[in-house]
Amino acid sequence: MSTSVEDRRVIAAPIVSVVIPAYREAENLPVIIPRLSAALSKAGLEAEIIIVDDDSGDGTSEVCQDLAKQYPVRLETRQKERGLSSAVLHGLRRAKGDVLIVMDADLSHPPEKVPDLVQALDEADVDFVLGSRYIHGGGTDEGWGFARWLNSKVATLMARPFTSAADPMAGFFALRRTTFRRADEEHELNPIGYKIGLELIVKCGCRRVQEVPIQFSNRLHGTSKLSLREQLNYMRHLGRLAEYKLRHLPRLLKFGFVGATGSGVDLIAFALALLVLPVPVARAVAIWVAMTWNFYWNRRWTFFDSHRHSVLGQYLMFCGACLVGAVVSWATSVGLWHLVPFFNTYPLVAAIIGIIGGTLFNFVASSLFVFRGKGAKRAED
Ligand code: GDD
Ligand code: MN
Repeated sequence: MSTSVEDRRVIAAPIVSVVIPAYREAENLPVIIPRLSAALSKAGLEAEIIIVDDDSGDGTSEVCQDLAKQYPVRLETRQKERGLSSAVLHGLRRAKGDVLIVMDADLSHPPEKVPDLVQALDEADVDFVLGSRYIHGGGTDEGWGFARWLNSKVATLMARPFTSAADPMAGFFALRRTTFRRADEEHELNPIGYKIGLELIVKCGCRRVQEVPIQFSNRLHGTSKLSLREQLNYMRHLGRLAEYKLRHLPRLLKFGFVGATGSGVDLIAFALALLVLPVPVARAVAIWVAMTWNFYWNRRWTFFDSHRHSVLGQYLMFCGACLVGAVVSWATSVGLWHLVPFFNTYPLVAAIIGIIGGTLFNFVASSLFVFRGKGAKRAED
């Protein structure tokens, strides 16, 4: 395995930025930085180390000045702000590397594992890597009381709706700078609480989270900075993540409502058209009228803030999406009816599932293509 790392390095070594949030870590920094730097050099990785300190006043800046003489260390001191997640964001926004690593200053996270995290990110479909305590080969040092263990387990369980990673609470992780930048530009990153890794996994839309086993050590010097208040903040954080996950729901409801009124319009138009037209033509006219009605209200109401394309362009795309949606609806219901005995007895249920499938298809196509635009960034307009 290590030879492949060597090989790859010759071809294209990424530049790595390691962000270390540090509050009152003057005693630990002179231990972690040489070890980290040695691990990076041994792996042939070019790197910068960004320490984000919140004006600790414990000699951190003098320690960093000394370290900077020998190691690629940069100190970022924030004067008025405090907080682990916002410190990490501060560092990530200033990082220049292709690969971004975040780790604690207190040697809980083994610096020697950093190259493994970088390597795991090298696979094309992996977009986030966690240094994980809870997969095979990982663990925590002795001395974790039952309370801390239980706390960690419950917190992990509560994150389950957002990610299936075994250790999403980890403060040791890696991601590409492009992934981070995209999330930072398109979504509001929430710096409350201290689970910035979880926040990034969700907001970066990371699909494949790879976990590398680590032994989580007890901190070398000093005490933990994470108070009960931070635990409560975690609850608020989960609430915000749930809101974020459900952010499309109001639009989906509006879209469904418009679709329902469209069905009524379809029937009325059909009845009227039948007065002067033969059935096949009357059906076609009614469907077209309903589609136009749906387009008008979705443009005006459901996606009122997404007017990037011309009206005619949007109208044609919308009609295209509806036609494909109709095929999806038809294929779903007929497929179910044909393949599943239950639906053979109850074709109406198959039709309802088909309608739901077709509507969802229309909604996704409308959001992504037809009415694509400012929706997600409205707050900044
Ligand atoms: N700049 C800055 N500002 N850094 C901070 C702050 C802050 O307000 N609070 C904490 N840090 C830094 C610490 O100096 C340390 O380097 C790192 O963030 C983690 O803080 P600890 O106080 O050591 O937290 P912990 O050991 O209880 O929690 C760690 O383990 C958890 C899993 O059990 C962290 O890695 C968590 O992210 C992780 O979830
Ligand atoms: Mn710690």
